[in-house]
Amino acid sequence: MSQWIEISTLAALADSAYERFEFEDIDVLVFREGSRVYAIEDLCTHDGAELCGGLYMDGEIECPRHGARFCIKTGQALSAPAYEQVSTLPIRVNDQGTVEIKLDTD
Ligand code: FES
Repeated sequence: MSQWIEISTLAALADSAYERFEFEDIDVLVFREGSRVYAIEDLCTHDGAELCGGLYMDGEIECPRHGARFCIKTGQALSAPAYEQVSTLPIRVNDQGTVEIKLDTD
């Protein structure tokens, strides 16, 4: 089963930046681009490094360990040495400006 969980407000997230959220079973990076938000798992598919701390620019994040780049919207691997996409998570901003993420709760 999965459920929507409140994690922040849009106003509390810096624009054109990202923030790390830790949950019981998964660590997540949440990116804000204007009024839109995106979420990916904080886990590089090349060798399991945290992506947190990596350079974020033009909708891409660069793994700080070996430099693979990923699209923050689709999770797609954009450069070697990663070839598999990183997991994305459903995320939304509700009418009150609250940011919610959908997590598995089993
Ligand atoms: S662990 Fe991320 S590029 Fe190698």
